Amino acid sequence: MHTGPENIALIGFMGSGKSSVGRRLAGRLGFHFVDTDALIVRRANQPIAEIFAQRGEEHFRREERLALESLRGARRRVIATGGGIVLNAENVALLRDLAFVVWLRASEETIFERVSRTDKRPLLRTENPRETIRTLLAARLPLYEKAAHFAVETSAQPHAEIAEAIISGARRFFSWEN
Ligand code: S3P
Repeated sequence: MHTGPENIALIGFMGSGKSSVGRRLAGRLGFHFVDTDALIVRRANQPIAEIFAQRGEEHFRREERLALESLRGARRRVIATGGGIVLNAENVALLRDLAFVVWLRASEETIFERVSRTDKRPLLRTENPRETIRTLLAARLPLYEKAAHFAVETSAQPHAEIAEAIISGARRFFSWEN
């Protein structure tokens, strides 16, 4: 049994549905929803793409760390994270302390289709975004796997079902009654 705060953190690649599933999940549970990207943007008063362009990825990763730190002591939150949060081992340890960590898995195809709808993601502004996704995914899959307490496949399931699957997992993890 997990005795810590009853938070649920969503990890996974860009476009895996962390924010939309997270909002739905928070609504279902009556938890607050927070998004580490949004915390960073608010603190920096700058969009993510600008933070990357002006201050670099390393700076952004440090900000991710601070965003997670700021959630220490929080309870009953659904925490959506940026796709790269698992790159830093300290972030992973902190996440696992803070929350039941759920990996939203999505296929390369699904990710490509979803992220192609916007150009908000600085890491995918490359000559060949499909290839970039493939390379980043290959590097990150083992990190998501290692960081997660639980995984849910999101490519073919509606958000409502994904949220229910997470709630079932959380019920066991936190030993919630019924
Ligand atoms: C990133 C994912 C983005 C955002 C930043 C870097 C990554 O978040 O944190 O652009 O390294 O995968 P989403 O996963 O919400 O798109």
